[in-house]
Amino acid sequence: MAKEAVRVEHLAKSYGPVRALDDVSFAVGESEVVGLLGPNGAGKTTTIEILEGMRSASSGTVRVLGRDPMRGGRRLRNRLGIVLQSAGIDAMLTVAEVVRLYAGFYRPRRSPAEVLEEVGLAANAATRVGQLSGGQRRRVDLALALVGEPALLFLDEPTTGLDPAARHNTWSAIERLRERGVAIVMTSHYLDEVQHLAERVIVLSGGRIVAEGAPGSLSGPASALTTISFRHTGSSGLPAGPWESTRRAGTLVTLETREPLEATRILLDWSGRTGDALEELEIRRPSLEEEYLKLTGGR
Ligand SMILES: Nc1ncnc2c1ncn2[C@@H]1O[C@H](COP(=O)(O)OP(=O)(O)OP(=O)(O)O)[C@@H](O)[C@H]1O
Ligand SMILES: [Mg+2]
Repeated sequence: MAKEAVRVEHLAKSYGPVRALDDVSFAVGESEVVGLLGPNGAGKTTTIEILEGMRSASSGTVRVLGRDPMRGGRRLRNRLGIVLQSAGIDAMLTVAEVVRLYAGFYRPRRSPAEVLEEVGLAANAATRVGQLSGGQRRRVDLALALVGEPALLFLDEPTTGLDPAARHNTWSAIERLRERGVAIVMTSHYLDEVQHLAERVIVLSGGRIVAEGAPGSLSGPASALTTISFRHTGSSGLPAGPWESTRRAGTLVTLETREPLEATRILLDWSGRTGDALEELEIRRPSLEEEYLKLTGGR
């Protein structure tokens, strides 16, 4: 088995005059979960579709499970799970029928009933796909990607349109796959989702990689700042501490620090000494969303 699930080198893709991808290089380890982020039109779907073998590259090399996705054939497809950004499924078939149909394409494969249970569609097994809600259809898409026991899964916006409970179910399904060692390349505009699921993120913008790394390490040294906030109703002045900045809005005090443990100790000592309570105390690392907005200039 290839040590890498995906390797992309100097990938470029043009649609006529539109340069959708330009000199994109990255790798995904086996059993790694990588999030592809970027604004609308950044090139995420194009990248994923090239990896799936559904689109050709204009130049550069692409290896998926050690093979060229355009030539990997059935042997490669058998090991991939795919959730497209928009998939067309026969609306006349029932949920159970489509899952059984797709299961027939794969070997080894999972039990369709087990997969329907896993994505929360067991109760809808006999419903025609055309009669499902948008979020339920999305879950059918996920079921179809899971039924073949993939070694590598591509998820293009797997939870768009799902209600919060269904999103969390999908997260659990993805976490179970991660535990089983399935490599996953996913895109999402929900940054909390990517922060929760992905070990590493790659940010595309205008067809180029603009940042890459673990969530929390993306936007350079500034992202090492931890924000501490609390409501202060007492009368004592704030203690001296390793603050990078301090702000006060009414009773709400917000401090930024690079030394969260030391800062917290100082605040707790101060509160104990003065009797001033630290109400609604929050200690927060920058979220992936904040990092992302910083990187993409909030556009
Ligand atoms: N079939 C196509 N023909 C021509 N241009 C295309 C085609 N598909 C995509 N593009 C263009 O390529 C660029 C990248 O599109 P892509 O779908 O990869 O973006 P994306 O990052 O997936 O965006 P989104 O977040 O909206 O899904 C866009 O400028 C888009 O207009
Ligand atoms: Mg897309």
